[in-house]
Amino acid sequence: MKIAMVASEAAPFVKTGGLGDVMQALPAELAKIKGNEVCLFLPYYKRIKQNPKIEVEYVNSFSMELSWRESYVGIFRLKTRKKKLQIYFIDNEYYFGARDTIYGDFDDGERFAYFSKAVMAALYSIDFKPDILHCHDWQAAMGVIYCRALYGSWCPYTKTVFTIHNVEYQGWAETAFFDNTLGLPEAYRGHLTFDGAINMMKGAIEVADIVTTVSKTYASELHYPYYAHRLDGVLRKAWLWGITNGIDTTVFNPETDPALKFNYSAKKMAGKWDNKRELRKELGLRTDTDAPILAMVSRLAGHKGIDLLCYISNRLMQREIQLVIVGTGEKQYEYALSALARQNPGRVAVCLKFDPALASRVYAGADMYMMPSKSEPCGLSQLIAMHYGTVPIVASTGGLRDTVLPYNSTTKEGRGFTFQSYNADDFLGAIDRAVNLYYNGRDEWNSLAQHDMEIDFSWAVPAAEYMQLYTELRNK
Ligand code: GLC
Repeated sequence: MKIAMVASEAAPFVKTGGLGDVMQALPAELAKIKGNEVCLFLPYYKRIKQNPKIEVEYVNSFSMELSWRESYVGIFRLKTRKKKLQIYFIDNEYYFGARDTIYGDFDDGERFAYFSKAVMAALYSIDFKPDILHCHDWQAAMGVIYCRALYGSWCPYTKTVFTIHNVEYQGWAETAFFDNTLGLPEAYRGHLTFDGAINMMKGAIEVADIVTTVSKTYASELHYPYYAHRLDGVLRKAWLWGITNGIDTTVFNPETDPALKFNYSAKKMAGKWDNKRELRKELGLRTDTDAPILAMVSRLAGHKGIDLLCYISNRLMQREIQLVIVGTGEKQYEYALSALARQNPGRVAVCLKFDPALASRVYAGADMYMMPSKSEPCGLSQLIAMHYGTVPIVASTGGLRDTVLPYNSTTKEGRGFTFQSYNADDFLGAIDRAVNLYYNGRDEWNSLAQHDMEIDFSWAVPAAEYMQLYTELRNK
């Protein structure tokens, strides 16, 4: 099958969040399947252009209209490509090459509409007629629409898939954007109009052959206003499917992770305790204690449940535990957590930075990993934590609910500790259950951690589900 993937980020080229991880792993996994040919399209951002490690070759260039604008489109391809997976970069100095930003510019709507249209023009120019055009999040949403509106006669059999990784960002613009920038046939105005404005995600939801999101629970949650950021009505009418993400177990692997001083596996867990000792030394935590380390590696945003953590922090400190927080974000949380660290030297370490190697050492050295998110489409950190033998304590929402089944001490089933409603006392309750098992049932605790390490979180399973979906679509 010929599959074209379109996204605004993919590790290791550019990554700001979980989407970058997914776009690194999923296309590669699909390319491993016999008979598939995959190509991935990304903007040629300045930071990619200037990275000497990323070698590209020129493919072609042409000019393209975006409403009344004539824009240059350059196509570059990654040189060290695999036969079945080609990575293409869309080059335009004005939109991507001359600025440092990935997201957050005043003209993001125009930049990503340009990108999505250029991808269709690029597919046409290299004559890659996809069976499946798979667009991710609002930045690629217009791909679905341009494919139908302008390339219908060139690729009438192409089926379009639109995946929502985060419904919060939808690509809103003023109504004039339709005429001034998008330059689409009149028939598409209705699809793109929402609440008196233009909403690109809404357009893709309506026009795509299928809409997917990154877990089953989140797919059903998206039917409710609490989660859907106003798109619940539109999503209730769509064919919406949930496929839970995996993790790249070649990247996230405690047996080989170069950031760890002691590599370890489910069969030889001893290395994990060595990493715990190292982590304490590195972060200045007391070493003369048997306390569990509770950790969080996260954007410090209310959305991630940091408000719950701050609310219970003083009571948490009455427990015999150590706390490690890594991440940056909203100032109020940065201040509150730094204060907590100052008040509890040797017990609390707060590192206000984004540092993937430190993150690895935290996943390896901690005993418990907290993710009290308000909502979570899938969440990847809890999967990484489990893969590193760190037991998750999570809010039972979205992908967290699907991947962290509550532990049952009687049947020994389940993977971690969960709480149902977004409430700080319930969160503390879940922590207490975990801490209690850690202190009073250490063998049981260790087998739970070991069991979590053995779960298969690789991309093979979700990739097979996507294939099933693609096949069903193609045969329709
Ligand atoms: C977004 C979501 C996160 C998900 C990721 C990859 O970042 O917030 O839950 O894991 O996308 O799909």
